[in-house]
Amino acid sequence: MTVSNESQQTLVHNLFEQQFQYSAQVICHAPGRVNLIGDHTDYNAGFVLPAAINFGTTIAASRRDDKVIKVYAHDCEQQIDEFSLADISFNQEMMWSNYIRGTLKALMAVYPDINGANLVVSGNVPQGAGLSSSASFEIAILNTFCQLYQLDLDGINAALIGQKAENEFVGCNCGIMDQLISAMGQKNHAMLLDCQDLSFVDAPIPEDLTLFIVNSNVKRGLVDSEYNTRREQCEQVAKHFGKNTLREVTLEQLILAKEQLTPELFRRARHVITENIRAVASLKALKANDMAALSCAMKESHISLRDDFEVSTKEVDGLVNIIDNVLGEQGGVRMTGGGFGGCVVALVPSNLVSAVEIAVNSQYEKNFAIKPSIYLCTATQGAFRASA
Ligand code: GLA
Repeated sequence: MTVSNESQQTLVHNLFEQQFQYSAQVICHAPGRVNLIGDHTDYNAGFVLPAAINFGTTIAASRRDDKVIKVYAHDCEQQIDEFSLADISFNQEMMWSNYIRGTLKALMAVYPDINGANLVVSGNVPQGAGLSSSASFEIAILNTFCQLYQLDLDGINAALIGQKAENEFVGCNCGIMDQLISAMGQKNHAMLLDCQDLSFVDAPIPEDLTLFIVNSNVKRGLVDSEYNTRREQCEQVAKHFGKNTLREVTLEQLILAKEQLTPELFRRARHVITENIRAVASLKALKANDMAALSCAMKESHISLRDDFEVSTKEVDGLVNIIDNVLGEQGGVRMTGGGFGGCVVALVPSNLVSAVEIAVNSQYEKNFAIKPSIYLCTATQGAFRASA
């Protein structure tokens, strides 16, 4: 399945006219993302290598003279929410609305004078699949308010505001990767982001490669609590070494201290430290179009997330095996994102796309009694990134 943003734009444009009986002043978009390698490293001040994808959130909007936000969410059961910027509280009934509420609350800490807006929102990032539907929602809202009120917010600060909304309002202790790539991704490129200082390098994705994403459609459970536990475990190991983050701990130091850590903590830290090495090596491999090296790094990343960090599931492992059997060294495949279900990402040369499709469709449901969803994606431009 591929999706065009134009059809999303037409949809929100028409829905806005239906809802509000006049035309929207702006139409804004922000993409979801897929992470090629470097998972559970961002909150350890490490390296990630994501790309923005051609699934996202699109918003039609107009300014209001008062402080009211009125929003129609087409893909959240066509619900309507209304609240005042003067008094933003958590909405227990409509969880989706908290992404807007939290983002605007964080935005108002920097721009207290903004007024309200009428909004129509539509998104096509599969929810709960690990493709950052929430970050794309937050960044789309920020993009919308920047355009409505001519705010001078840049992509990095937009990402930090989006992350603040998640951490402080929604209650997920996530890192910066998802918001930053949604804001700053570049078309046809992946980005090596250093989460310590938020510097990044763009790496072209070779033309011949398809971003082949498969949703295991495993319902994700306990995601937030397990995620927050992993984060605490990493912080515990960093503290053992007297450091703020695992970024400052080397593999040699970790191995020397093995006996002082529980086996579980040792494995958690080993994942993070080796994943950083793999993410940096993958940038080099991508730039050199060295598929064998990329394939190897992605394979090792999956094994490390499965065995050391323990965030995979048997269905996701099964998908990785099915795809790996077709690709061998000609492509790469691994779980992507936070884990506990969700998607796998594969880099597939165009001559193998249909063979991988056939393998997934013929084997996954047979083995796990769940239908997979396949998304053939391209890397797109982030919401705050000027065209190259
Ligand atoms: C989620 C979080 C990100 C990151 C990934 C794992 O997507 O939102 O910040 O930690 O998990 O890499």
